[in-house]
Amino acid sequence: MHKILIIDDDDQLRMSFQKLLEEEDYIVDIAPSGETGVEIVKNQPPDIVVLDMRLPGMNGFETFQSIHHLAPKIPVIIMTAFGTTETAIEAIKMGAFDYILKPFEIPEMLAIIKQAVEASRLMHSPVNLDTQPFNDGDVMIGKSKPMQDIYKAIGRVAPTDATVLIRGESGTGKELVARAIYQHSTRSNKPFIIINCVAIPETLLESELFGYEKGAFTGASHRRVGKIEQANGGTVFLDEIGDMPFTIQAKILRLLQEKSLERLGARTAVSVNVRIIAATNRNLENALKEGTFREDLYYRLKVVTISLPPLRERQEDIKLLIDFFMGQFSAELGIKNPGITKEAEQILSNDPLPGNVRELSNTILKVLIFNTGIPVSSEVISQAVIGKVNFGNGDKGDDNDDQSRKLVKKWIQNYISTQKGNNLYEKCLDKFSAILISEIMNITGGNRTKAAKLLGISRPTLHAKLEKFGLTVTTSMKELDPQKNSWHYQNKKDKPTTKKV
Ligand SMILES: Nc1ncnc2c1ncn2[C@@H]1O[C@H](COP(=O)(O)OP(=O)(O)OP(=O)(O)O)[C@@H](O)[C@H]1O
Ligand SMILES: [Mg+2]
Repeated sequence: MHKILIIDDDDQLRMSFQKLLEEEDYIVDIAPSGETGVEIVKNQPPDIVVLDMRLPGMNGFETFQSIHHLAPKIPVIIMTAFGTTETAIEAIKMGAFDYILKPFEIPEMLAIIKQAVEASRLMHSPVNLDTQPFNDGDVMIGKSKPMQDIYKAIGRVAPTDATVLIRGESGTGKELVARAIYQHSTRSNKPFIIINCVAIPETLLESELFGYEKGAFTGASHRRVGKIEQANGGTVFLDEIGDMPFTIQAKILRLLQEKSLERLGARTAVSVNVRIIAATNRNLENALKEGTFREDLYYRLKVVTISLPPLRERQEDIKLLIDFFMGQFSAELGIKNPGITKEAEQILSNDPLPGNVRELSNTILKVLIFNTGIPVSSEVISQAVIGKVNFGNGDKGDDNDDQSRKLVKKWIQNYISTQKGNNLYEKCLDKFSAILISEIMNITGGNRTKAAKLLGISRPTLHAKLEKFGLTVTTSMKELDPQKNSWHYQNKKDKPTTKKV
């Protein structure tokens, strides 16, 4: 569980914040003043800090400076009112994670907290290379010659300040390598900021990376410091750089050559000291031919390249990976590792696995969720590999997508005709969430840990949703079907029927 420290002198806010975050499965520490906050960071460092700007005694800015000096890798989210935004911006320039204006919407705050917690995890959780014993963090598994070469390359480039380009198919471990380079570099106690060039809409990417000045465009009501400037002194990981828009590529080239950038709408450049690590699964040579990637940037980036081999080129590692994921996921799911038959292992080793390690790990998680305690057989693996494991509806290709779409459309039309037409968005999403959750609870036989894992939400969140939607195991169903362990989850307001919700 992740620990959040809230520093705010407002008792009311601290308490309601604490309650809210505890419900979201975070451990919360609170401090009524900057001085106490800094002490806590010193003695029991949290994963992230949420800090109010206006504090009695040591003010928010000074508190930020002390915390950042003590623990530069702990993301600090600043809460600020309109009057203090300038100071908040100053703090961002010095490396604060983000700021949020008071009064804020809870979902917006939770989203920033989630990002900060993830950033903290990526900075703190070590990436161990398979050559070393490990007991904490992630590990890169693989003893094959190509992987040994990767470990050596990481060791060689990490301590230099060189820009690195990581290439490889989807799911081959590019992000793990980027983190390993950062962690073994001389900048390892400075921030590591990940920017996924495809996840951010093209129109926002430039301002996200480089920031903007007040008035740079309609809606730019105040200055915003970009992610690159924010990472000053640290490392920026430009993920999926092959998909970066052409115009922004020019700005990245300038950053690499001149170590400076211009915020949008600014007249002068600011110098920044960041190390760039970039990754792509694109064929950049084709992109050059098609004119979607700049040649000058390509040559600048490719000087130090690490190319990750796909799994099919390191078959001997597949067994190690299977054993590793079986152990890891069994522990996470709280089940005994059921083991896997030789034949099943063989199928995975011979399968082309287009998604590489990610696909292998997802397949193993999938079969373990449905495992009933016996060793994983070749039939189960074949089904999982070709996507036949029944996750309820969906995931069966385009035809089914079309059909599902029609069904959903019909359902929405029905719903509109029978309900008062307000809050439709929320109502529909609630309705879908309730169906999804009850379906998953049925599939997992009522096991909340497995269901939460499959849904990708925390157990307390799942619990809250079951409560919210009034979903419960119907006793009548248990009586009807005691052997099959088919726990029919349904809305307690509905009458029990033999159908699932
Ligand atoms: N050698 C490895 N050992 C153990 N786990 C690995 C290894 N390589 C990748 N993984 C795991 O597989 C998943 C995908 O890895 P990662 O995100 O680093 O791949 P990627 O190359 O960045 O993929 P994409 O191109 O899809 O972004 C992660 O969960 C990662 O922890
Ligand atoms: Mg990736």
